[in-house]
Amino acid sequence: MNEKRAARSLLVVAGLLLACRAALDSNHAPARFLETTPVEASTRDTEPVNAAPFAHPFGDDQLAIILAMGDLGEPPADPTNAVADDPRAARLGQYLFFDERLSGTGKIACTSCHDPRGNWTDGRELASGLAQLTRHTQSLWNVAYNRWFFWDGRADTLWSQALIPLEDPREHGGNRLAYAHLIHGDPELKTAYERIFGPLPDLADADRFPPEGRPVEDDPRHPHHVAWTAMAEEDRAQVNRVFANLGKCIAAFERRIVSRRSAFDRYAAALRRGDPEAPADFPPAAVRGLELFLGKAQCRNCHHGPNFTDKEFHNTLVPTPLSILDGGRFDGSKLVKQSEFNGVGPYSDDPTGEAELKIRYLAIDGHDHAKFKTPSLRNAAVTAPYMHQGQFGTLDEVVRFYSTMEGALTHTQHHPDPLMQPRNLTEEEIASLVAFLETLVDDRVPDELRSQPASPVLD
Ligand code: HEC
Ligand code: HEC
Repeated sequence: MNEKRAARSLLVVAGLLLACRAALDSNHAPARFLETTPVEASTRDTEPVNAAPFAHPFGDDQLAIILAMGDLGEPPADPTNAVADDPRAARLGQYLFFDERLSGTGKIACTSCHDPRGNWTDGRELASGLAQLTRHTQSLWNVAYNRWFFWDGRADTLWSQALIPLEDPREHGGNRLAYAHLIHGDPELKTAYERIFGPLPDLADADRFPPEGRPVEDDPRHPHHVAWTAMAEEDRAQVNRVFANLGKCIAAFERRIVSRRSAFDRYAAALRRGDPEAPADFPPAAVRGLELFLGKAQCRNCHHGPNFTDKEFHNTLVPTPLSILDGGRFDGSKLVKQSEFNGVGPYSDDPTGEAELKIRYLAIDGHDHAKFKTPSLRNAAVTAPYMHQGQFGTLDEVVRFYSTMEGALTHTQHHPDPLMQPRNLTEEEIASLVAFLETLVDDRVPDELRSQPASPVLD
């Protein structure tokens, strides 16, 4: 009994510390969370120390898992990007993210598909820029917590990811030389760039730096490829460096797109503190859904940790009505190993440590065919449709698929994940799982991230 009381006081102290941390953390905490903090802190002060915590069905093991899931910290450091946390880089990156001049036609920006008013995605099944793509646009909520990027993980850093749509003819349809010239020719962009990275190369020298060019491996006669390969190797390296730096600025901006104050997080915090009452926005159906998520429905086996993903790839046998042959992780692994912009390449700011281990131990494995990245489930309730081709329109449909596996692919050459077995959930269980997923929403986009800043230069 005494032990219990001591533990309880410890919990209260921890709760108060947490409230202080939240107050200090106010730069990052959305208003919704701040509004509740002072109230919680003052209730704590007047509460008798031995008040009974609210009832819940979780054992100690499950409790530990829940507390960990409800504690998403700051995005992990990215040593491959020296400006990842430089506010000047984030400002320039945000400016570029909204800038349609970063395209072959002057009409496409990152926001064309990752719209901040639409939870950083486009609501379409398949993405469409200058042409239609064969995959669904991923939301950028919590993107910086990933280990690999894209559905197939063909980028190993957030900054190298950004370079790919910029040159994809179906997306921005531009090229690295044109982008370097854009920065060089616009006084504000040039100032912003040079304050962060130092002088740009002498792009005014048209003999050395043609107006357009990029490697086009699958079409060596493409004029952009011809122009690119005719350049001196060190000049190409200089343009690559500028291009990589643009990606690093965009990544610095994307690191701010964070969601970690959902109803579920408040529930976990209340459990952690031993509050006498459960938060009202975590209804009994969500409690039941959480139980299923950890238990019978086996969701946590892949969607685990505070961002609800194992950061790995699985073949979930989701039906592909378009019959697109998508190699998934198998192709992604090959591409990321080859990329000159990967974390161990010449444009990485730290090709050692984690970056090196990721690439070195990445096997090119036939078993990885049709495997796709486990998405985070934070904000999934507001980012329909779902899966790599937008196969499902609602969370209800997704959960029903896990329940019955109806329509699952049967290709024998694929290696389905052993966890993909029908879960035979009841109607009540399906509804509860959906109710739980709906508590993972914190979709308030801070005002300062919603639009293009007036200037790319941070004073
Ligand atoms: C034409 C629509 C379109 C445009 C424009 C576009 N994207 Fe995307 N984005 C997508 C699609 C589709 C995917 C998934 C593609 C895949 O897996 O092959 C994606 C994936 C991503 C990812 C990976 C997310 C993850 O969880 O792995 C990031 C980051 C991203 N885009 C950022 C950007 C940035 C930055 C820009 C601008 C430079 C941009 N996108 C422009 C459609 C677009
Ligand atoms: C074997 C690992 C695994 C298990 C177990 C698993 N998932 Fe998934 N989940 C994935 C992968 C991988 C994807 C992406 C699949 C694709 O795009 O083809 C995904 C996609 C999703 C999506 C769509 C998210 C989005 O943004 O597109 C939701 C929602 C989801 N899972 C919920 C669940 C729930 C609920 C359970 C438990 C019933 C569960 N998952 C069990 C691996 C898993």
